[in-house]
Amino acid sequence: MKDHLVNIGIIGLGTVGTGVARILLKQKELLHTRSALTFQLKAISELDWSRNRDLDLSHVKCTTNADDILLDPEIDIVVETIGGYEPAFSFICKALQNRKHVVTANKALIATKGRELFKIAAANGVDLMFEASVGGGIPIIKGLREGLVANTIESIYGILNGTSNYILTRMHQDELEFGQALQEAQAKGFAEADPTLDVGGGDAAHKLTILASIVSSGFVDFGSIFVEGITAITKLDINFAKSLGYTIKLLAIYRLVEDGLDLRVHPTLIPNSHLLAAVNQELNAIFVKGDFVGDTMFYGPGAGERPTGSAIVGDIVDLSQDLLLKEGEQSSKRTINPDVQVKTIPISQVKNRFYLRFFTLDAPGILSKISGILGDCGISISSMVQLEAHEKENYVPIVLITHEASEASMEKALQEIRKFDFVKENFLRLRVF
Ligand SMILES: NC(=O)c1ccc[n+]([C@@H]2O[C@H](COP(=O)([O-])OP(=O)(O)OC[C@H]3O[C@@H](n4cnc5c(N)ncnc54)[C@H](OP(=O)(O)O)[C@@H]3O)[C@@H](O)[C@H]2O)c1
Repeated sequence: MKDHLVNIGIIGLGTVGTGVARILLKQKELLHTRSALTFQLKAISELDWSRNRDLDLSHVKCTTNADDILLDPEIDIVVETIGGYEPAFSFICKALQNRKHVVTANKALIATKGRELFKIAAANGVDLMFEASVGGGIPIIKGLREGLVANTIESIYGILNGTSNYILTRMHQDELEFGQALQEAQAKGFAEADPTLDVGGGDAAHKLTILASIVSSGFVDFGSIFVEGITAITKLDINFAKSLGYTIKLLAIYRLVEDGLDLRVHPTLIPNSHLLAAVNQELNAIFVKGDFVGDTMFYGPGAGERPTGSAIVGDIVDLSQDLLLKEGEQSSKRTINPDVQVKTIPISQVKNRFYLRFFTLDAPGILSKISGILGDCGISISSMVQLEAHEKENYVPIVLITHEASEASMEKALQEIRKFDFVKENFLRLRVF
C-alpha cells in the first residue's frame, strides 16, 4: 500500500461483485472520511460484459482474464465473487501466493476448502476475509470475533438460509404447499434454479461450519454436521405446529456440550414467543448466547447485491486499516486455526424434544400401541393432537410432542413403529426447540 491508496480488483461481476463495485465507486468519499484511506477499484475481471449493470467503469480496467488482477503487483486486495469451487479455489490460491489479501463471499469454498486456504494465507503473511459468507449484510463474523471476544459462546441458533425461510414463511402465513412456495421463491429470484443446497440444508451447514470454526478457534469438518432439509414438511405439519403454538424454521445449531460440539441443521419447531419465530420472509437471524453477555440476536438481510456488497466492503476497510497500522503484519484475530481439529458429537448422542406426525388407520388402540413403544424406549409424550380422518382416505393424522429423549432412543422407537401396517409409510419426525 502506497500513500494510503488501496488498490482493489474484483473477479466476478455478478450480483455480489456488482454490489461491491457500486459501493466502492459511490461511497469513496465516505470511506475515505471514515478510514483515512483511498480505495481505488482498479480492475474487474468478468466473463460476460454484455449485461447492463448501471455502473460507470470508465476508470476501471475491465478484462476477461483473472490474471490481469492476480498478477498485477499494484493490486493489494482481490475480491473473489464468482462463487463455486473452480476456478474460484485456484484464483484465491494464486492471489494469496502472490501476497494479496483476499475477500470472498464464497461459503461453500470456505466451509469445504478453508483449511487449505487458511494455511496458504498464513504461509504468505496475508489474510483471507469472509464476512459476507454468513448472514449476507449482518456483521455476525465481526460480532463474534470482536464484539463477543470476551465470551465463551455457549450456543448459536441461526436462520441462515433466506430461501428456506421464505418458503416456510409463505407456507405458514399463506398456507402454500412446499412446491408452490418454492416455485414462488424461484420466480422472485430468491432460490437458485437448482435449490438443493438451500432446501436440503447444505447451504446453512456451510455457514454453520464457518461460525462454529470461528467460535471454537479451530476448524470444523463440514462432513461432521448432521443435516436435514425442509422438503418433507407439508402444509399440514405447518398447521399442526401452529395449533400447538409453534412456527417451523430451518435452524443451524451450535451447542457447546460436555463432550464437544453439537452441530446440526434441521427444521425445528420454535415456540411463537421466541424472537426467532418472528424472523420471516428471506431475512436471516442469529441468536447467540455468550457466558458473560447472555442472549443476543443479530438480524437482517442475508443476501442480495447491496447487503452482501456492504459486508465485503466492511472486510476491505477492516483489512486496509490494519495494513496502515502494521504494514505487512497479519492480524491473528481473523484466523480460523486450520491446525486445530474441533471435536463434534454424533447426532445419536444428542437429546431433543420431538414432533412426530403419523398417518395411521382409523381404528381403536393404535395410539396406545404407539405410546407403548415410545414408553418402552424411555420416551414420554408431552402433548398430542388426533385429528379427523385424512381427506378421502381412511387414515387419521396423529401428532405428538415428546419430552426430551435421545436421538438414539427415538430412532429405535421409530424402527419399531415402522413395522406396523397401521402406520402409513410417510411419517415425519421433527425436533422442537
Ligand atoms: N447472491 C447473494 O446474495 C449472495 C449472498 C451471500 C453470498 N453469496 C456468494 O457470493 C458468491 C457470488 O454469488 P453471486 O450471487 O454474485 O453469483 P453470480 O451472480 O452468479 O455472479 C458470479 C459472476 O462471476 C462471473 N464469473 C464466472 N466465472 C468467472 C471467471 N472465471 N472469471 C470472471 N468472472 C467469472 C459470472 O459470469 P457469467 O454470468 O458470465 O458466468 C457472474 O457474472 C457465491 O460464492 C455466493 O455463494 C451470494
